[in-house]
Amino acid sequence: MTKILSGAGLRGQSAGQTALCTVGKASSGLTYRGYGIDVLASKASFEEVAYLLLYGALPNRTQLHNYEQKLMSLRSLPEELKAVLELIPKDAHPMDVMRTGCSFLGNLEPELPFEKQPSLGLHTADRLIATLPAIVVYWYRFSHDGVRVDTHNMHVQSLAGHFLTMLHDVEPSKLHTQVMNASLILYAEHEFNASTFTARVCASTMSDMFSCVTGGIGSLRGPLHGGANEAAMDMIEPWKTPDEAEAELLKKLANKEMVMGFGHAIYSESDPRNEIIKQWSKKLSEEVGDTCLYAVSERCEAVMWREKKLFCNADFFHASAYRFMGIPTKLFTPIFVCARVTGWAAHVMEQRANNRIIRPSADYIGPDHADWVALDQRP
Ligand SMILES: CC(C)(COP(=O)(O)OP(=O)(O)OC[C@H]1O[C@@H](n2cnc3c(N)ncnc32)[C@H](O)[C@@H]1OP(=O)(O)O)[C@@H](O)C(=O)NCCC(=O)NCCS
Repeated sequence: MTKILSGAGLRGQSAGQTALCTVGKASSGLTYRGYGIDVLASKASFEEVAYLLLYGALPNRTQLHNYEQKLMSLRSLPEELKAVLELIPKDAHPMDVMRTGCSFLGNLEPELPFEKQPSLGLHTADRLIATLPAIVVYWYRFSHDGVRVDTHNMHVQSLAGHFLTMLHDVEPSKLHTQVMNASLILYAEHEFNASTFTARVCASTMSDMFSCVTGGIGSLRGPLHGGANEAAMDMIEPWKTPDEAEAELLKKLANKEMVMGFGHAIYSESDPRNEIIKQWSKKLSEEVGDTCLYAVSERCEAVMWREKKLFCNADFFHASAYRFMGIPTKLFTPIFVCARVTGWAAHVMEQRANNRIIRPSADYIGPDHADWVALDQRP
């Protein structure tokens, strides 16, 4: 097997500049345009954060109102897209549904050349923020419940509440809306992570926003990235007591298995998003009278730190928080998409504003010279 070099995965190397986000640098651990994640997650709405990332500054009251209205007005899905979503089988993975939905919408509403100019508005980005939740929930409800959900629901203003309302057919409680809002903010942006880098590479070829976001969805899908929240849930769900969790985790570690929801490529001691979502998970566990899942999750956190000095990343306590709100496991990573599309789109605009095609070189490790062998003489 080829030895993994210390710089593998571009670890520790700067691949460009950004004014959007710092990871592991400021005292808060994570900032969006200079604002600490702790402040944003406790004080802002997801719509405010989306505006901050895309338009460069926090909106004033009028700007925020207009932006919320704009996003609400963009919620409906074209009939052709609904027809495509209805063809996708129930056992498909919702991340594949989102990839298809995003790509298909790009056929119906292609980004026009002038819309690629950063100064001329962000219609496609806003359209995707408004429709990605509708795409995944429309497909989910149709394929699982036979229901054609109203994605253009204008009663619920926040995107957080809109998602939960489409999913459960009832408006969520204040607590659930708050948690969902905080979750979307925590997942909105994270510098040059794998999916954002994918989107930026695509943008650097002067491609369109739909292609950049479709590529981002593909990268986010894997369990080493966004798929970790689902994988963490699949792991902890069968464990009925903290002691059982500890015993099973120790077996995994002895077998040198990766434990999903732990560790991070940049953070070395803790993930600032974890404390925030963990607190919300605790509140939700008390609300539902849970006596198992939260305790199991806490024990996992303690064991992983004790045994390997590995800490929970943003994904681990998201798993229990989403479960307490009745969200099916297979929709966990799609929620990440609904949030991260803001970061992807902001990075696409930033790349376009100061573009040079991203084209690194490679260290060649193949043979120096190979002699041609005719087809019928090859072994
Ligand atoms: C996030 C992740 C991909 C970072 O990878 P990375 O930068 O290559 O990780 P590191 O270099 O810090 O790993 C250091 C060591 O800890 C181990 N390690 C890291 N994360 C681990 C985990 N979740 N479970 C078990 N061991 C882990 C590595 O195998 C490595 O061991 P080694 O030195 O014996 O080879 C990795 O931690 C991981 O796969 N985590 C699980 C998936 C996940 O939760 N992803 C979401 C990230 S937000």
